[in-house]
Amino acid sequence: MAIQSIRGMHDLFGEEIRRWQPVEKHIAQIFADFGYQEIRTPVMESVEVFTQAVGEATDIVEKQMYVIERDRETVALRPEGTAAFMRAIIQHQLHRQPQPQRYFYYLPMFRYERPQKGRLRQFHQFGAEFINDPSPEADAEVIALLDHIYRSLGLTQYEIRINTIGTTETRALYRKALENYFAPHVSKMDPEAQSRFQRAPMRLLDSKDPALAPLIEKAPLITEHLTPGDRAHYEAMKKALKHLGVKFDEDPRIVRGLDYYCHTAFEFVSDLLGAQSALVGGGRYDGLAERFGEKPIPAVGFGLGMERLLMALEAIGKLPTGLDKPFYFFAPLGEKAYEVLYPLSVELKKNGIWTEMLYEKDKALKGQLKQANRLQARNAVILGDEEMAKGKVLIKDMEKGTQDEVALSGLSEHLLKRAKANE
Ligand code: HAM
Repeated sequence: MAIQSIRGMHDLFGEEIRRWQPVEKHIAQIFADFGYQEIRTPVMESVEVFTQAVGEATDIVEKQMYVIERDRETVALRPEGTAAFMRAIIQHQLHRQPQPQRYFYYLPMFRYERPQKGRLRQFHQFGAEFINDPSPEADAEVIALLDHIYRSLGLTQYEIRINTIGTTETRALYRKALENYFAPHVSKMDPEAQSRFQRAPMRLLDSKDPALAPLIEKAPLITEHLTPGDRAHYEAMKKALKHLGVKFDEDPRIVRGLDYYCHTAFEFVSDLLGAQSALVGGGRYDGLAERFGEKPIPAVGFGLGMERLLMALEAIGKLPTGLDKPFYFFAPLGEKAYEVLYPLSVELKKNGIWTEMLYEKDKALKGQLKQANRLQARNAVILGDEEMAKGKVLIKDMEKGTQDEVALSGLSEHLLKRAKANE
């Protein structure tokens, strides 16, 4: 077979990329409106960035990372953005600026997973990370921001599921409770579940094994182990969400598959997506900095999967067509006309108007108009000897088929005005 891209990694071009672009622009604008500044981290990091931050016993680190050995360095392709983000914040001491700071990134992520609909090996995330603000209102703002992104794109068919996973101490107690609960059943578990039990019993709650489902159903909940402080943060966060008019469901089983979370954990799920139903996941991660040897840095954020967002928009017919068309197609007939229209075509481009023409000096009108149609140009600007003699140019509306004559002198201003009037 001819050489191909890697399974689960796709080329984006043509109509598809044109559909992505307006959505990307829309989201970037919302981030700007909410006071987010962009950050771009390298595509690779030392493997420790992810093993320390995301956790050794997580699926992402254990099974899904692309790891490369070079000289004596072990590096990994970024499987997620938060660990790399925090590495950058600490490296540049950005958290020392005392004020709350909001960052976003739009970057490809790499996970060695079994590809299926909505699950890729290279996918794209819009990530938001809000640091130096420990308040529950910051968590609620981040969730409201997401809700606004989806709704403003016309997507409303999703549920916002929230939970609290408390502090490290809470989770240590919960871990004990889960160990006690699952221990009598370990011998009947498959090796995968047994390994989860040994290394990270909370991960058992994420298990998709149908044999475990009834057991998981009755497992103790983290909400039964919360401290008064955990509870206060959670209650205040829910209150803030209500103030912002964001509707949510509480789901005490959301534990998230990354170790760095504390307090708020959330997911937006949509039945438009099939098996991979999570549109976005996120939460608070005040303790992540400590995993890098720093003092705690209050932080909350999310990762929004672009491919899944586009799938959902497509399912409801809200995907932008993204089809932009040349405004003018220049059709000169003969050398003299060519010399007039060629510089004009480039001049209009410089003025932000999409023009096209064929750089062939003796092409018949029919062939040129055929090309204009192929490109779906809105207007053809036709200049032949006859028009030159009259000092006129023909402008043909390619959709309506109507045409009108305008003066050759001052043509540039006229075309500019006409295009601007159409914006
Ligand atoms: P995550 O839940 O691992 O969180 O991923 C976030 C989102 O990325 C998912 O909800 C999904 O939309 C998308 N996604 C994940 N894996 C794939 C895949 N294989 N193919 C397509 N889309 C995928 C994180 O990555 C955290 N860093 C989020 C975060 C930021 N938490 C705090 N700040």
